[in-house]
Amino acid sequence: MDTGLKGRSAIITGGASGIGLGIALALAEEGVNLAIVGRNPDRTAIDELCSKGVKCISIKTDVSKENEVVNMISSAISEFGHIDMYINNAAWAWHQPITKIDSESWYKTIDTNLSACMWACREICRHMIPKKSGSILIIGSAARFNPAYREATYRITKMGLCMYMQNLAIEMAPYNIRVNMITPGHFKTRMTGNVPPAVEDKMKHIIPAHRFGNTFDIGYTAVMLLSDRLSGYTYGADLVIDGGLTLRPLPIYTDEEIIGFNKV
Ligand SMILES: NC(=O)c1ccc[n+]([C@@H]2O[C@H](COP(=O)([O-])OP(=O)(O)OC[C@H]3O[C@@H](n4cnc5c(N)ncnc54)[C@H](OP(=O)(O)O)[C@@H]3O)[C@@H](O)[C@H]2O)c1
Repeated sequence: MDTGLKGRSAIITGGASGIGLGIALALAEEGVNLAIVGRNPDRTAIDELCSKGVKCISIKTDVSKENEVVNMISSAISEFGHIDMYINNAAWAWHQPITKIDSESWYKTIDTNLSACMWACREICRHMIPKKSGSILIIGSAARFNPAYREATYRITKMGLCMYMQNLAIEMAPYNIRVNMITPGHFKTRMTGNVPPAVEDKMKHIIPAHRFGNTFDIGYTAVMLLSDRLSGYTYGADLVIDGGLTLRPLPIYTDEEIIGFNKV
């Protein structure tokens, strides 16, 4: 299927690892030129993306700093001439119980996860508005549906992103700029690398799909939402990709019992 994305250009924050890399690889398969942003984007990931035959540059940026975000957007525009898609994916999680949240971790998390998105979207929308076209994708988190211990600050940023995405979607719609969100459940990446195996086993038990997500599970969905051809009437959608985790079924039946219900 032709997604209509060939020859377009995209900026992906945090695009050299985990979920961001999954999205970058799926876009590269579609012929999209990429600007990959990170404090220290992994060279191997950039080489892998270039090997797909697209132009791929890395832009070293700390997105928690407004001036660096402004420079990131202007450098990508001057490199490619125009930017058609912006994917806000970079995030930071610092796990602290309520009684131990300090101002350093609070501001770093808010600035990296929430403020960075506002500065970047402000800049990219100023570029997209005169063209009357563009597509923006914001990566949220299913953590916002389900309070988890030591995640207050992170959850607040992801809830904030959701509110912000809705406003951005309605304010940009008259310019034919579509804004959507993907809300992932649990994926094994650097961010979740410290989760102990015993906790992972418990999580797999409560996820109806009984597995964690693979980054390509998100990559192709991102392509779909970013493509005007595939999602031209999709504005302000929040697509949850979590193997059913947020449905939170009561853990009272085994899979065998559930399958048994359906036997004829
Ligand atoms: N993994 C999950 O289960 C899960 C679940 C729900 C939502 N998510 C969301 O998915 C997104 C990607 O996370 P991930 O799981 O793929 O983790 P990851 O591999 O650790 O990716 C995070 C990325 O963000 C970048 N980043 C962090 N701080 C930055 C900063 N100040 N400036 C620029 N870049 C920065 C990192 O690059 P550098 O280190 O080079 O700066 C890294 O590439 C995040 O928005 C996260 O909240 C993940």
